[in-house]
Amino acid sequence: TIEKPWSGRFTAPTDAFVEAFTASVGFDQRLYAYDIMGSIAHATMLARVGVLTQTECEQIVNGLQSIQQEIESGQLQWSIALEDVHMNIETRLTQKIGVVGKKLHTGRSRNDQVATDVRLYLRHEIDTIIAELNRLLNALIVVAEREAETILPGFTHLQSAQPITFGHHLLAWCEMLLRDKSRLQDCRKRVNTLPLGAAALAGTSYPLDRHYTAELLGFEAVAENSLDAVSDRDFAIEFTSAATLIMMHLSRFSEELVLWSSAQFNFIELSDAFCTGSSIMPQKKNPDVPELVRGKTGRVYGALISLLTLMKSQPLAYNKDNQEDKEPLFDTVDTLKGSLKVYADMIPAMQVNRDIMRKAALQGFTTATDLADYLVRKGVPFRDAHEIVGKAVRYGVENNTHLEAVTLETYKQFSPLIEQDVYNVLSLEGSVAARNVFGGTAPQQVKAAIQRLKAKL
Ligand code: ARG
Repeated sequence: TIEKPWSGRFTAPTDAFVEAFTASVGFDQRLYAYDIMGSIAHATMLARVGVLTQTECEQIVNGLQSIQQEIESGQLQWSIALEDVHMNIETRLTQKIGVVGKKLHTGRSRNDQVATDVRLYLRHEIDTIIAELNRLLNALIVVAEREAETILPGFTHLQSAQPITFGHHLLAWCEMLLRDKSRLQDCRKRVNTLPLGAAALAGTSYPLDRHYTAELLGFEAVAENSLDAVSDRDFAIEFTSAATLIMMHLSRFSEELVLWSSAQFNFIELSDAFCTGSSIMPQKKNPDVPELVRGKTGRVYGALISLLTLMKSQPLAYNKDNQEDKEPLFDTVDTLKGSLKVYADMIPAMQVNRDIMRKAALQGFTTATDLADYLVRKGVPFRDAHEIVGKAVRYGVENNTHLEAVTLETYKQFSPLIEQDVYNVLSLEGSVAARNVFGGTAPQQVKAAIQRLKAKL
């Protein structure tokens, strides 16, 4: 049997079920590279301040590097008797290099060690996630640029509202993702703080140089208070909160993609590579990828609530509760990375059915506001114009026609001020081109917005 590091204090062995119940190595082994990185920095700092000799430090560093290889080639046998990734690696180090290995943990506790590992891990993952966000943003910009003049109906209440350009719609998605990116960048600053040196909770009596350790590990700051350093999980909650917003945005995009790929809308067609069929209905091509992303949003919301609840009422300093931070955090990272990746791959392969979008924009009297604005320009107060156009729309509904097809003679009955030039404002192209205000849907504005966006990326 494996001797536990705390065996000195104990007379009876751990209950077999408790051993499995309290172990985290099954999931925290994914931190191994960061654990080794942190240990190498700690040993290097210990040698610099004279707690370890240069030779001892070298033995430790070499030992840790060869353990990293053992792990990466699948040779290391993880043991639940050694509870977590930290004690597995430390025990293996002593097996390999002997008594010197036992000096690594000088001036350190698993409490500051695990907080350091998770921060290193999350910092790396945030960078990967931001790269995926950028890839998705770039993919959306390419389509937005190509479809800057493509017209489709814009909706409010999911009822046809006004014609918009497809590029403009995609740029709305981009704005959401840009805010998401800035939230991640902001959260990264607080992730990037070094807890190591806080030891169990109170700091340590060894002359550690925490700023040097921070420098070695690329941390921007050193945690100011040892109690806070070992117990703070705000950074994980902040990250997960940013992740819930990203997933919420992806769920909204997903909803639109699913709707647009239906036979009734048929605005887009997703590539076969991102759809699946039915085992019974031969005609089916299902938008599984957006549906699944929409569904996965729930587990990330769940992770946020788990973490908030985990920390609620927790007294200072470290408590074993905190071991429960890892699974929701890891699951959030995996879900988010996967969802962004599949979106960044799927968007460029999406087919846009411009003719169908245009036809849909002709339905539903989407240029009614333009007709009202036209009357306003002729001197009619807006409320009266609204009433006049309402009647014209009712005429259209009753006669099953659309505004562009109503004759001038008929229009004259609604208002004598209506002239031949009304047909310019009733056209879809005229309508979108008229919305040439900063941030509006006019192709000219969309192109300008794309240039601003490109400059930001
Ligand atoms: N596996 C533990 C965790 O994930 C590491 C820290 C354990 N510290 C302790 N004092 N039991 O949080």
